[in-house]
Amino acid sequence: MAKLIIVSNRLPVKLQEKEGELQFKTSEGGLATGLGSIYKEGDNLWIGWPGKVVEEADKQQQIIKELQKESMFPVFLTEAEIKEYYEGFSNETLWPTFHYFSQYAVYDQQFWETYKNANQKFCDEIVKHAGPDDTIWVHDYQLLLLPSMLREKLPDCTIGFFQHIPFPSYEVFRLLPWRKELLEGMLGSDLVGFHTYDDMRHFLSSVNRLVGYGSMHGWINTGTRSLLVDSFPMGIDYEKYAQTAVSEEVAKRERIYRSNLKAEKLIISIDRLDYSKGIPQRLDAFEKFLEKYPEFHDKVTLVMLVVPSRDEVEKYKELKEEVDEMVGRINGKYSHIDWNPIQYFYRSYPLETLSAFYRMADIALVTPMRDGMNLVCKEYVASKHDQTGVLILSEMAGASKELSDALLINPNDIDQMVEALHQALTMPVEEQKVHMTSMQETIKRYNIHHWVSMFMDRLSYVKIKQLSMATT
Ligand code: F6P
Repeated sequence: MAKLIIVSNRLPVKLQEKEGELQFKTSEGGLATGLGSIYKEGDNLWIGWPGKVVEEADKQQQIIKELQKESMFPVFLTEAEIKEYYEGFSNETLWPTFHYFSQYAVYDQQFWETYKNANQKFCDEIVKHAGPDDTIWVHDYQLLLLPSMLREKLPDCTIGFFQHIPFPSYEVFRLLPWRKELLEGMLGSDLVGFHTYDDMRHFLSSVNRLVGYGSMHGWINTGTRSLLVDSFPMGIDYEKYAQTAVSEEVAKRERIYRSNLKAEKLIISIDRLDYSKGIPQRLDAFEKFLEKYPEFHDKVTLVMLVVPSRDEVEKYKELKEEVDEMVGRINGKYSHIDWNPIQYFYRSYPLETLSAFYRMADIALVTPMRDGMNLVCKEYVASKHDQTGVLILSEMAGASKELSDALLINPNDIDQMVEALHQALTMPVEEQKVHMTSMQETIKRYNIHHWVSMFMDRLSYVKIKQLSMATT
Protein backbone atom coordinates (compact mmCIF):
# COMPACT_ATOMS: atom_id res chain seq x y z
CA MET A 1 0.00 0.00 0.00
CA ALA A 2 1.19 3.52 -0.79
CA LYS A 3 2.51 5.38 2.21
CA LEU A 4 3.38 8.92 3.31
CA ILE A 5 6.98 9.76 4.18
CA ILE A 6 7.48 12.98 6.11
CA VAL A 7 10.94 14.50 5.97
CA SER A 8 12.26 17.38 8.05
CA ASN A 9 15.69 18.36 9.27
CA ARG A 10 14.70 17.48 12.83
CA LEU A 11 12.62 14.50 13.85
CA PRO A 12 9.67 15.30 16.11
CA VAL A 13 11.71 13.94 19.04
CA LYS A 14 14.95 15.13 20.58
CA LEU A 15 17.57 12.64 21.59
CA GLN A 16 19.22 13.26 24.95
CA GLU A 17 21.85 11.35 26.85
CA LYS A 18 21.59 11.27 30.64
CA GLU A 19 24.28 9.36 32.58
CA GLY A 20 25.02 7.23 29.52
CA GLU A 21 21.31 6.45 28.96
CA LEU A 22 19.62 7.47 25.72
CA GLN A 23 16.30 9.26 26.10
CA PHE A 24 13.86 10.67 23.55
CA LYS A 25 12.01 13.87 24.40
CA THR A 26 8.87 14.37 22.31
CA SER A 27 8.61 17.66 20.53
CA GLU A 28 5.57 19.83 21.15
CA GLY A 29 6.14 21.84 17.98
CA GLY A 30 3.28 22.54 15.60
CA LEU A 31 4.53 20.23 12.91
CA ALA A 32 4.90 17.28 15.27
CA THR A 33 1.36 17.83 16.56
CA GLY A 34 -0.17 18.31 13.14
CA LEU A 35 1.44 15.32 11.56
CA GLY A 36 1.54 13.23 14.72
CA SER A 37 -1.67 11.41 13.97
CA ILE A 38 -0.71 10.77 10.33
CA TYR A 39 2.84 9.49 10.45
CA LYS A 40 2.02 6.69 12.83
CA GLU A 41 -0.78 5.36 10.62
CA GLY A 42 -0.17 2.22 8.52
CA ASP A 43 3.29 2.17 7.01
CA ASN A 44 3.75 5.94 7.14
CA LEU A 45 7.02 7.20 8.56
CA TRP A 46 9.10 10.25 9.44
CA ILE A 47 12.74 10.72 8.46
CA GLY A 48 15.04 13.32 10.04
CA TRP A 49 17.95 14.15 12.31
CA PRO A 50 17.50 13.03 15.93
CA GLY A 51 18.98 16.28 17.30
CA LYS A 52 22.35 15.02 18.55
CA VAL A 53 25.62 13.96 16.97
CA VAL A 54 26.09 10.22 17.47
CA GLU A 55 29.13 8.66 15.85
CA GLU A 56 29.43 5.25 17.57
CA ALA A 57 27.95 2.50 15.35
CA ASP A 58 26.45 0.53 18.27
CA LYS A 59 24.69 3.61 19.64
CA GLN A 60 23.36 4.42 16.18
CA GLN A 61 21.93 0.90 15.94
CA GLN A 62 20.27 1.27 19.31
CA ILE A 63 18.72 4.58 18.23
CA ILE A 64 17.48 3.13 14.94
CA LYS A 65 15.80 0.32 16.86
CA GLU A 66 14.14 2.63 19.36
CA LEU A 67 12.92 5.12 16.76
CA GLN A 68 11.60 2.43 14.46
CA LYS A 69 9.05 1.52 17.12
CA GLU A 70 7.64 5.02 16.66
CA SER A 71 7.77 4.93 12.81
CA MET A 72 10.82 7.22 12.70
CA PHE A 73 14.10 6.76 10.88
CA PRO A 74 17.17 8.83 11.72
CA VAL A 75 19.64 10.58 9.45
CA PHE A 76 22.84 10.84 11.48
CA LEU A 77 24.74 14.06 10.91
CA THR A 78 28.41 14.48 11.76
CA GLU A 79 29.96 17.39 13.72
CA ALA A 80 31.16 18.86 10.42
CA GLU A 81 27.69 18.58 8.86
CA ILE A 82 26.09 20.30 11.84
CA LYS A 83 28.65 23.11 11.55
CA GLU A 84 28.50 23.57 7.80
CA TYR A 85 25.06 22.34 6.72
CA TYR A 86 22.88 23.21 9.75
CA GLU A 87 24.60 26.14 11.49
CA GLY A 88 26.41 27.24 8.34
CA PHE A 89 24.44 27.15 5.11
CA SER A 90 20.96 26.72 6.67
CA ASN A 91 21.30 29.24 9.47
CA GLU A 92 24.06 31.62 8.40
CA THR A 93 23.22 31.81 4.69
CA LEU A 94 19.58 30.91 4.00
CA TRP A 95 17.99 32.01 7.29
CA PRO A 96 19.30 35.62 7.22
CA THR A 97 18.68 35.98 3.48
CA PHE A 98 15.12 34.65 3.64
CA HIS A 99 14.36 36.93 6.62
CA TYR A 100 15.70 40.03 4.82
CA PHE A 101 18.85 40.19 6.97
CA SER A 102 21.14 39.70 3.99
CA GLN A 103 23.82 41.83 5.66
CA TYR A 104 24.25 38.88 8.10
CA ALA A 105 24.52 36.25 5.35
CA VAL A 106 27.74 34.27 5.01
CA TYR A 107 28.59 33.08 1.49
CA ASP A 108 30.92 30.13 1.92
CA GLN A 109 31.59 27.55 -0.78
CA GLN A 110 32.39 24.86 1.78
CA PHE A 111 29.01 25.43 3.53
CA TRP A 112 27.32 25.00 0.15
CA GLU A 113 29.17 21.75 -0.63
CA THR A 114 28.21 20.31 2.75
CA TYR A 115 24.59 21.48 2.31
CA LYS A 116 24.43 19.55 -0.96
CA ASN A 117 25.98 16.46 0.62
CA ALA A 118 23.66 16.59 3.61
CA ASN A 119 20.59 16.88 1.33
CA GLN A 120 21.96 13.86 -0.56
CA LYS A 121 22.29 11.99 2.71
CA PHE A 122 18.59 12.60 3.45
CA CYS A 123 17.78 11.48 -0.10
CA ASP A 124 19.73 8.24 0.31
CA GLU A 125 17.88 7.42 3.52
CA ILE A 126 14.48 8.13 1.92
CA VAL A 127 15.28 5.98 -1.11
CA LYS A 128 15.82 3.02 1.23
CA HIS A 129 12.18 3.30 2.36
CA ALA A 130 10.24 4.75 -0.58
CA GLY A 131 8.30 2.91 -3.26
CA PRO A 132 7.21 4.41 -6.60
CA ASP A 133 3.63 5.08 -5.42
CA ASP A 134 4.57 6.76 -2.17
CA THR A 135 4.07 10.37 -1.24
CA ILE A 136 7.02 12.26 0.22
CA TRP A 137 6.39 15.52 2.09
CA VAL A 138 9.61 17.51 2.55
CA HIS A 139 9.74 20.37 5.05
CA ASP A 140 11.66 23.59 5.10
CA TYR A 141 14.74 25.50 4.04
CA GLN A 142 17.31 23.01 5.28
CA LEU A 143 16.20 20.65 2.49
CA LEU A 144 15.66 22.83 -0.58
CA LEU A 145 17.65 20.54 -2.89
CA LEU A 146 15.95 17.37 -1.78
CA PRO A 147 12.86 17.43 -4.07
CA SER A 148 15.01 17.30 -7.24
CA MET A 149 17.35 14.70 -5.81
CA LEU A 150 14.32 12.55 -5.01
CA ARG A 151 12.75 13.17 -8.42
CA GLU A 152 15.87 11.83 -10.08
CA LYS A 153 15.85 8.60 -8.06
CA LEU A 154 12.07 8.15 -7.83
CA PRO A 155 10.57 9.77 -10.94
CA ASP A 156 6.99 8.65 -10.24
CA CYS A 157 6.81 9.55 -6.59
CA THR A 158 4.48 12.27 -5.36
CA ILE A 159 6.61 14.99 -3.79
CA GLY A 160 5.30 17.91 -1.74
CA PHE A 161 7.48 20.64 -0.31
CA PHE A 162 6.47 23.16 2.35
CA GLN A 163 8.59 26.13 3.37
CA HIS A 164 7.98 27.29 6.94
CA ILE A 165 9.94 30.53 6.68
CA PRO A 166 9.41 33.51 4.34
CA PHE A 167 10.50 33.48 0.73
CA PRO A 168 12.14 36.85 -0.01
CA SER A 169 11.62 39.12 -2.96
CA TYR A 170 13.69 38.38 -6.06
CA GLU A 171 15.97 41.37 -5.35
CA VAL A 172 17.04 39.74 -2.08
CA PHE A 173 16.98 36.11 -3.20
CA ARG A 174 19.25 36.81 -6.15
CA LEU A 175 22.06 37.83 -3.79
CA LEU A 176 22.69 34.13 -3.13
CA PRO A 177 25.49 32.74 -5.31
CA TRP A 178 23.67 29.38 -5.52
CA ARG A 179 20.20 30.88 -6.26
CA LYS A 180 19.48 28.94 -9.45
CA GLU A 181 20.47 25.54 -8.03
CA LEU A 182 18.28 26.19 -4.98
CA LEU A 183 15.22 26.94 -7.12
CA GLU A 184 15.89 23.95 -9.33
CA GLY A 185 16.04 21.83 -6.19
CA MET A 186 12.58 22.98 -5.12
CA LEU A 187 11.16 22.51 -8.61
CA GLY A 188 11.52 18.74 -8.31
CA SER A 189 8.29 18.86 -6.24
CA ASP A 190 4.73 18.38 -7.48
CA LEU A 191 3.43 20.96 -5.03
CA VAL A 192 5.40 23.78 -3.38
CA GLY A 193 3.65 25.43 -0.43
CA PHE A 194 4.23 28.67 1.48
CA HIS A 195 2.41 30.31 4.37
CA THR A 196 1.36 33.41 2.46
CA TYR A 197 0.41 34.58 -0.98
CA ASP A 198 3.32 37.06 -0.93
CA ASP A 199 5.91 34.29 -0.32
CA MET A 200 4.39 32.36 -3.19
CA ARG A 201 4.49 35.42 -5.45
CA HIS A 202 8.16 36.07 -4.59
CA PHE A 203 9.04 32.46 -5.36
CA LEU A 204 7.26 32.54 -8.73
CA SER A 205 9.01 35.77 -9.63
CA SER A 206 12.45 34.30 -8.80
CA VAL A 207 11.67 31.16 -10.81
CA ASN A 208 10.66 33.30 -13.74
CA ARG A 209 13.69 35.57 -13.66
CA LEU A 210 16.37 33.07 -12.70
CA VAL A 211 15.22 29.83 -14.29
CA GLY A 212 13.06 31.26 -17.06
CA TYR A 213 9.81 29.41 -16.31
CA GLY A 214 6.64 31.49 -16.35
CA SER A 215 3.53 30.51 -14.40
CA MET A 216 -0.23 30.57 -14.78
CA HIS A 217 -2.43 30.56 -11.64
CA GLY A 218 0.48 29.03 -9.72
CA TRP A 219 1.18 26.29 -12.29
CA ILE A 220 4.74 26.08 -13.61
CA ASN A 221 5.62 24.04 -16.65
CA THR A 222 9.25 22.95 -16.79
CA GLY A 223 8.94 21.53 -20.30
CA THR A 224 8.85 17.95 -19.00
CA ARG A 225 6.39 18.25 -16.13
CA SER A 226 4.00 20.60 -14.35
CA LEU A 227 3.94 21.57 -10.72
CA LEU A 228 1.77 23.81 -8.59
CA VAL A 229 2.78 26.57 -6.18
CA ASP A 230 0.22 27.66 -3.59
CA SER A 231 -0.22 29.18 -0.13
CA PHE A 232 -1.33 27.26 2.97
CA PRO A 233 -1.29 29.34 6.18
CA MET A 234 -0.33 26.98 8.98
CA GLY A 235 -2.59 26.75 12.04
CA ILE A 236 -2.18 25.42 15.56
CA ASP A 237 -3.80 22.62 17.51
CA TYR A 238 -6.51 24.97 18.78
CA GLU A 239 -8.24 22.48 21.05
CA LYS A 240 -4.99 21.55 22.77
CA TYR A 241 -4.25 25.18 23.70
CA ALA A 242 -7.85 26.02 24.58
CA GLN A 243 -8.22 22.96 26.81
CA THR A 244 -4.83 23.31 28.49
CA ALA A 245 -5.70 26.90 29.38
CA VAL A 246 -8.74 25.79 31.39
CA SER A 247 -7.05 22.86 33.11
CA GLU A 248 -6.69 22.72 36.88
CA GLU A 249 -2.87 22.56 36.61
CA VAL A 250 -2.74 25.80 34.63
CA ALA A 251 -5.15 27.55 36.98
CA LYS A 252 -2.88 26.51 39.87
CA ARG A 253 0.21 27.88 38.15
CA GLU A 254 -1.59 31.11 37.36
CA ARG A 255 -2.46 31.61 41.05
CA ILE A 256 1.20 31.12 42.01
CA TYR A 257 2.54 33.50 39.36
CA ARG A 258 -0.06 36.15 40.14
CA SER A 259 0.77 36.13 43.80
CA ASN A 260 4.39 36.82 42.90
CA LEU A 261 3.77 39.58 40.38
CA LYS A 262 2.81 42.87 41.94
CA ALA A 263 1.81 44.75 38.77
CA GLU A 264 -1.86 44.84 37.76
CA LYS A 265 -1.17 44.50 34.07
CA LEU A 266 0.92 41.89 32.36
CA ILE A 267 2.48 41.93 28.91
CA ILE A 268 3.84 38.63 27.60
CA SER A 269 6.55 38.13 25.00
CA ILE A 270 7.71 34.64 23.99
CA ASP A 271 10.23 33.82 21.25
CA ARG A 272 13.28 31.81 20.37
CA LEU A 273 16.34 34.02 20.71
CA ASP A 274 16.55 35.10 17.09
CA TYR A 275 17.31 38.44 15.42
CA SER A 276 14.28 37.94 13.15
CA LYS A 277 12.02 38.22 16.22
CA GLY A 278 12.73 41.92 16.86
CA ILE A 279 13.51 41.55 20.58
CA PRO A 280 15.76 44.66 20.92
CA GLN A 281 13.21 46.81 19.06
CA ARG A 282 10.48 45.54 21.38
CA LEU A 283 12.58 46.41 24.43
CA ASP A 284 13.28 49.80 22.96
CA ALA A 285 9.53 50.40 22.57
CA PHE A 286 8.83 49.24 26.12
CA GLU A 287 11.50 51.56 27.49
CA LYS A 288 10.06 54.51 25.54
CA PHE A 289 6.59 53.58 26.79
CA LEU A 290 7.78 53.76 30.40
CA GLU A 291 9.39 57.10 29.66
CA LYS A 292 6.30 58.58 27.99
CA TYR A 293 3.65 57.13 30.34
CA PRO A 294 5.08 57.22 33.88
CA GLU A 295 1.57 56.62 35.29
CA PHE A 296 2.10 52.95 34.32
CA HIS A 297 5.18 52.52 36.50
CA ASP A 298 4.48 49.84 39.12
CA LYS A 299 1.34 48.90 37.21
CA VAL A 300 2.70 46.98 34.23
CA THR A 301 5.26 44.20 33.88
CA LEU A 302 6.71 42.74 30.71
CA VAL A 303 7.30 39.00 31.15
CA MET A 304 9.81 38.09 28.49
CA LEU A 305 10.45 34.39 27.90
CA VAL A 306 13.34 33.81 25.54
CA VAL A 307 14.05 30.27 24.38
CA PRO A 308 17.73 29.48 23.65
CA SER A 309 18.33 28.71 19.97
CA ARG A 310 21.25 28.06 17.60
CA ASP A 311 23.64 29.28 20.28
CA GLU A 312 26.74 28.23 18.34
CA VAL A 313 25.95 30.76 15.59
CA GLU A 314 27.85 34.05 16.03
CA LYS A 315 24.92 36.43 15.40
CA TYR A 316 22.83 34.61 18.00
CA LYS A 317 25.62 34.96 20.58
CA GLU A 318 25.84 38.68 19.85
CA LEU A 319 22.07 39.07 20.18
CA LYS A 320 22.10 37.33 23.56
CA GLU A 321 24.60 39.90 24.86
CA GLU A 322 22.56 42.77 23.43
CA VAL A 323 19.31 41.56 25.01
CA ASP A 324 20.98 40.88 28.40
CA GLU A 325 22.46 44.36 28.36
CA MET A 326 19.19 46.09 27.39
CA VAL A 327 17.11 44.29 30.01
CA GLY A 328 19.74 45.07 32.66
CA ARG A 329 19.80 48.73 31.68
CA ILE A 330 16.00 49.18 31.61
CA ASN A 331 15.48 47.34 34.88
CA GLY A 332 18.42 49.23 36.42
CA LYS A 333 16.80 52.52 35.44
CA TYR A 334 13.19 51.86 36.52
CA SER A 335 13.10 49.01 39.06
CA HIS A 336 12.52 49.56 42.71
CA ILE A 337 12.31 47.26 45.63
CA ASP A 338 8.94 45.72 44.78
CA TRP A 339 8.66 46.21 41.01
CA ASN A 340 10.77 45.17 38.04
CA PRO A 341 9.42 46.43 34.72
CA ILE A 342 10.85 43.37 32.94
CA GLN A 343 10.90 39.79 34.16
CA TYR A 344 13.34 38.09 31.80
CA PHE A 345 13.80 34.31 31.55
CA TYR A 346 16.25 32.64 29.17
CA ARG A 347 15.23 28.96 28.97
CA SER A 348 12.47 26.77 27.54
CA TYR A 349 9.21 26.14 29.35
CA PRO A 350 6.63 23.36 29.45
CA LEU A 351 3.25 23.91 27.82
CA GLU A 352 1.45 24.41 31.16
CA THR A 353 3.72 27.31 32.14
CA LEU A 354 3.31 28.97 28.75
CA SER A 355 -0.42 28.44 28.97
CA ALA A 356 -0.59 30.07 32.43
CA PHE A 357 1.28 33.12 31.10
CA TYR A 358 -0.95 33.32 28.03
CA ARG A 359 -4.03 33.14 30.25
CA MET A 360 -2.79 35.85 32.58
CA ALA A 361 -1.44 38.24 29.99
CA ASP A 362 -3.44 41.37 29.25
CA ILE A 363 -1.32 41.87 26.17
CA ALA A 364 0.79 39.64 23.95
CA LEU A 365 3.55 41.58 22.24
CA VAL A 366 4.54 39.66 19.10
CA THR A 367 6.72 41.93 17.01
CA PRO A 368 9.03 40.02 14.64
CA MET A 369 10.99 41.94 12.03
CA ARG A 370 10.04 39.09 9.69
CA ASP A 371 8.34 35.76 10.34
CA GLY A 372 7.01 33.07 8.01
CA MET A 373 3.87 32.60 10.13
CA ASN A 374 4.40 32.92 13.92
CA LEU A 375 2.44 30.49 16.01
CA VAL A 376 2.94 32.18 19.41
CA CYS A 377 0.28 34.77 18.60
CA LYS A 378 -2.17 32.02 17.67
CA GLU A 379 -1.39 30.11 20.88
CA TYR A 380 -2.10 33.27 22.89
CA VAL A 381 -5.45 33.79 21.20
CA ALA A 382 -6.46 30.13 21.69
CA SER A 383 -5.61 30.36 25.41
CA LYS A 384 -7.81 33.40 26.16
CA HIS A 385 -10.73 31.45 27.62
CA ASP A 386 -12.66 34.58 28.68
CA GLN A 387 -11.95 36.45 25.41
CA THR A 388 -10.18 39.30 27.16
CA GLY A 389 -6.67 40.40 26.16
CA VAL A 390 -5.12 42.29 23.29
CA LEU A 391 -2.72 41.01 20.68
CA ILE A 392 -0.14 43.47 19.34
CA LEU A 393 1.19 41.88 16.18
CA SER A 394 3.83 42.77 13.61
CA GLU A 395 2.67 43.29 10.05
CA MET A 396 5.78 41.35 9.04
CA ALA A 397 4.48 38.06 10.50
CA GLY A 398 2.58 35.79 8.11
CA ALA A 399 -0.12 35.50 10.82
CA SER A 400 -1.01 39.18 10.41
CA LYS A 401 -2.76 38.29 7.15
CA GLU A 402 -5.30 36.24 9.09
CA LEU A 403 -5.41 38.18 12.37
CA SER A 404 -6.54 41.60 11.27
CA ASP A 405 -8.32 42.07 14.62
CA ALA A 406 -4.95 42.42 16.33
CA LEU A 407 -3.34 45.85 16.79
CA LEU A 408 -1.03 45.64 13.80
CA ILE A 409 2.29 47.46 14.00
CA ASN A 410 5.43 47.96 11.96
CA PRO A 411 8.29 46.77 14.22
CA ASN A 412 10.57 49.47 12.82
CA ASP A 413 8.16 52.14 14.02
CA ILE A 414 9.00 52.38 17.72
CA ASP A 415 6.56 55.25 18.36
CA GLN A 416 3.74 53.23 16.83
CA MET A 417 4.56 50.32 19.18
CA VAL A 418 4.54 52.73 22.16
CA GLU A 419 1.09 53.98 21.20
CA ALA A 420 -0.17 50.45 20.55
CA LEU A 421 0.92 49.50 24.07
CA HIS A 422 -0.98 52.45 25.48
CA GLN A 423 -4.06 51.68 23.39
CA ALA A 424 -3.98 48.02 24.45
CA LEU A 425 -3.57 48.85 28.14
CA THR A 426 -6.52 51.22 28.07
CA MET A 427 -8.81 49.26 25.75
CA PRO A 428 -12.31 48.66 27.21
CA VAL A 429 -13.01 44.99 27.99
CA GLU A 430 -16.01 44.88 25.62
CA GLU A 431 -13.81 45.98 22.73
CA GLN A 432 -11.15 43.40 23.66
CA LYS A 433 -13.81 40.69 23.56
CA VAL A 434 -15.07 41.65 20.12
CA HIS A 435 -11.59 41.36 18.63
CA MET A 436 -10.55 38.27 20.55
CA THR A 437 -13.74 36.38 19.64
CA SER A 438 -13.25 37.14 15.98
CA MET A 439 -9.61 35.95 16.06
CA GLN A 440 -10.59 32.79 17.92
CA GLU A 441 -13.17 31.95 15.27
CA THR A 442 -10.52 32.22 12.57
CA ILE A 443 -7.84 30.12 14.20
CA LYS A 444 -10.27 27.54 15.52
CA ARG A 445 -11.45 26.88 11.98
CA TYR A 446 -8.08 27.12 10.24
CA ASN A 447 -6.28 24.84 12.69
CA ILE A 448 -3.33 22.50 12.15
CA HIS A 449 -5.54 19.63 11.03
CA HIS A 450 -7.14 21.84 8.41
CA TRP A 451 -3.66 22.86 7.21
CA VAL A 452 -2.52 19.24 6.82
CA SER A 453 -5.62 18.19 4.94
CA MET A 454 -5.54 21.26 2.68
CA PHE A 455 -1.97 20.46 1.67
CA MET A 456 -2.53 16.74 1.19
CA ASP A 457 -5.76 17.27 -0.77
CA ARG A 458 -4.07 19.76 -3.05
CA LEU A 459 -1.21 17.35 -3.62
CA SER A 460 -3.64 14.62 -4.73
CA TYR A 461 -5.37 17.14 -6.99
CA VAL A 462 -2.02 18.03 -8.61
CA LYS A 463 -1.36 14.37 -9.43
CA ILE A 464 -4.78 13.99 -11.05
CA LYS A 465 -4.32 17.23 -12.99
CA GLN A 466 -0.85 16.15 -14.17
CA LEU A 467 -2.33 12.93 -15.54
CA SER A 468 -5.08 14.74 -17.41
CA MET A 469 -2.52 17.24 -18.78
CA ALA A 470 -0.36 14.36 -20.02
CA THR A 471 -3.28 12.77 -21.88
CA THR A 472 -4.61 15.95 -23.52
O1 F6P B 1 10.68 28.41 11.85
C1 F6P B 1 11.50 27.53 11.19
C2 F6P B 1 12.09 26.49 12.10
O2 F6P B 1 12.93 25.62 11.38
C3 F6P B 1 11.00 25.68 12.81
O3 F6P B 1 10.53 24.63 12.03
C4 F6P B 1 11.70 25.28 14.06
O4 F6P B 1 10.82 25.00 15.10
C5 F6P B 1 12.54 26.50 14.38
O5 F6P B 1 12.83 27.10 13.13
C6 F6P B 1 13.81 26.18 15.17
O6 F6P B 1 14.68 25.52 14.36
P1 F6P B 1 15.98 24.71 14.78
O7 F6P B 1 16.07 24.71 16.27
O8 F6P B 1 15.77 23.35 14.23
O9 F6P B 1 17.11 25.41 14.13
